[in-house]
Amino acid sequence: MNNIPRVETPPRRPQWMLSPLAAVTHAALTVFHRIRGYTSPGTSPETDIEGAARYDEQIVKSWRNYLVEYTGDENPFQKKRCLELGPGPDLGAGLFLLAEDAAFYQAMDVNPLIKRASKDFYNQVLTLIKDSHGTTVAKSLAQILEKYQADNSGLFSYICQPDFDLGILEADSIDLVLSQAAFEHFNDPLQTINQLSRVVRPGGVFLAQVDLMTHTPFVRDIDPLSIYRLPDWYYRGFHYPGIPNRVRPDEYVKTLSLNGWSDITVIPTHVVDNEYLRRTQPHMASRFRHRDAEMSFLSVVVLARRDYIDEQ
Ligand SMILES: C[S@@+](CC[C@H](N)C(=O)[O-])C[C@H]1O[C@@H](n2cnc3c(N)ncnc32)[C@H](O)[C@@H]1O
Repeated sequence: MNNIPRVETPPRRPQWMLSPLAAVTHAALTVFHRIRGYTSPGTSPETDIEGAARYDEQIVKSWRNYLVEYTGDENPFQKKRCLELGPGPDLGAGLFLLAEDAAFYQAMDVNPLIKRASKDFYNQVLTLIKDSHGTTVAKSLAQILEKYQADNSGLFSYICQPDFDLGILEADSIDLVLSQAAFEHFNDPLQTINQLSRVVRPGGVFLAQVDLMTHTPFVRDIDPLSIYRLPDWYYRGFHYPGIPNRVRPDEYVKTLSLNGWSDITVIPTHVVDNEYLRRTQPHMASRFRHRDAEMSFLSVVVLARRDYIDEQ
């Protein structure tokens, strides 16, 4: 896993943009998001159909690469019952997973964003699948999609619930949990892991790409760790839907381990440069000044395998 490239953050960080500016920006964002509600900063299947379809194709390829390396299985989706958490504005990834012979695709979310994806978007995904997997696969997926669109049943389904309660899923019913740029938005990702521990069968695998950066455009480029300057009491007070939860990789590792997962691996996929970290870390809230918080990580992939022996 060591040969996965790490991208350095460009060294552009004015010193004056420290805690007071972060606090004011955060308060303004809170007002904006509380009025507007959750908005997905990801792709836009309404306005950029091809870009959104290609993004989904790319995400599934990236999951595939991590899983091949982690499991040693060249066909890591084959016959796997897949659960995607936080799919965003469309379910294109699900079709690419079924094209890779997944047993079924179940998606869960808290925001009904998938209304944004049109028939044209799914046709575009099927065209890409036809190019890569052939006409027969694309035709059978078109039928699965039709069934989903008719009654949200079959090998492809979607649950959207305001409380994001994974307790409604059957025990041991999932082989593979997948998530992209979503765990950082969950209200209680550690509780989600706790619930997954019942839902995922022993030997099942968890893969989540987590974006640990500030999500505010512009600030994200010049000061990606700005959210960590704010003390917990302030951050909690100015809470808005989808706010990054500031859960660090060490907390994922600890929670997975306590809930009966092993082979826990954290792969940094985007790290800051040392100079920025050296200047920023002394201004962070105290719990982010700890070495275990690994503040150089801006984005990670977390992988784990559900234990065969139940810990109780
Ligand atoms: C940035 S989007 C990522 C979407 C998609 N996976 C992608 O890569 O483009 C974040 C996802 O997390 C979901 N989400 C946001 N807040 C959530 C919460 N509190 N609980 C559960 N899901 C949440 C959103 O609805 C959305 O699906």
